[in-house]
Amino acid sequence: MELFSSARSLVQQHEPDRPVTCLRPEMANRAATYFKNRFPGKILYAVKANPRLEIIDSIYNAGINHFEIASLSEAELLYGRYPECHLAYMHPIKSRGSIKNAYFKYGVRDFALDSVDELNKILVSTDYAEDLNLFVRLAVPNDYAEFNLSQKFGASPAKVAHILSCIRPVSKKIGICFHVGSQCMSPSSFSSALKTVGQIIRSSGLILDIIDVGGGFPSIYPNLAPPPLDAYLDEIRTIKERIPVINKCEIWAEPGRALVAEGASTLVRVDHRKEDHLYINDGTYGSLFDAGFPGFVFPVKPIRKAGNFSASLSPYSLFGPTCDGLDYMKGPFILPEDMKEGDYIEIGQTGAYGCTMRTRFNGFYSDRTVILSDLPILSMYQRSSHEWQLVGG
Ligand SMILES: Cc1ncc(COP(=O)(O)O)c(C=O)c1O
Repeated sequence: MELFSSARSLVQQHEPDRPVTCLRPEMANRAATYFKNRFPGKILYAVKANPRLEIIDSIYNAGINHFEIASLSEAELLYGRYPECHLAYMHPIKSRGSIKNAYFKYGVRDFALDSVDELNKILVSTDYAEDLNLFVRLAVPNDYAEFNLSQKFGASPAKVAHILSCIRPVSKKIGICFHVGSQCMSPSSFSSALKTVGQIIRSSGLILDIIDVGGGFPSIYPNLAPPPLDAYLDEIRTIKERIPVINKCEIWAEPGRALVAEGASTLVRVDHRKEDHLYINDGTYGSLFDAGFPGFVFPVKPIRKAGNFSASLSPYSLFGPTCDGLDYMKGPFILPEDMKEGDYIEIGQTGAYGCTMRTRFNGFYSDRTVILSDLPILSMYQRSSHEWQLVGG
């Protein structure tokens, strides 16, 4: 794959006509190393956030060989790359065929569920295997998250206690898992969920082997600057040590976004300007889904092949290339006031749920990918890169 020192250098050498996914695998490695060194337990990478092999390899090379999967194709991908790795199938609702193949073909032993019906499905599909590790998904408040997952998955504390008593006789290890919602802006979400887990353990009288605190660890965006990641890990460590029934358990986490957001950006070109609207060649049906309805404001860096930008900045909204009005990114994206057709924009933090969600809608699809060796526009792992506001020419 082609390597460039920066998106600017890519523009100067190639003036790409289509959007380009700019990978920074080293940044995924840096994030994975951070979690591996500081999280008080086991880290499983949530593959859905970015299943590119360059990214998976960089996380694996940081010493993480546990992966959270949500589908059989993710199991196949991981098993094909790292046959000895540990796969946990934590999607609470699975087809019988995928449970069967995950167990018999890809060696998966860890499964999540949030109902007795799903438990029966898992037991039948694995021929009543005796080496299963089962996790009950607890629904927890997602109040501080940008993406709420608790309406779709999870059982109430009373139901979790009941399901735990059903899985105890048929599982080797048992656990509770939860998800505080993606891009969770408050560390307190993790401590309140853990307190609920403590209450369930005490009232059920069952001994749990594992508590899986899920994903939700945030990345940083211009309109969403969370507390430092240390605050999240400290909160989890403190609560674990304070509640004896939790302290006895192994702790797992399944970060996705926080590991890979900085692992890619997208280079786009401005094809038209109408006042404060820039029409660019990628959009919400491409790698910028989160900038659409979810309203994320991605960090941006303007690039002009020749000549300088004005030092004055203006707020812009963006339109993607398709014919759909939903292909709109409100922003505001702060860029030089003299942006014009032919200018490029590096859009940061598209490593998580970005390039992975591209569609072929209207025929606009670009899989051109390069590797960049410079630092991301914004970082959770290098707070001084808040210099994103100082746009360069
Ligand atoms: C079960 C599970 N684990 C982990 C994740 C990763 O979450 P995040 O990217 O917010 O860290 C998700 C995301 O949807 C999930 O559903």
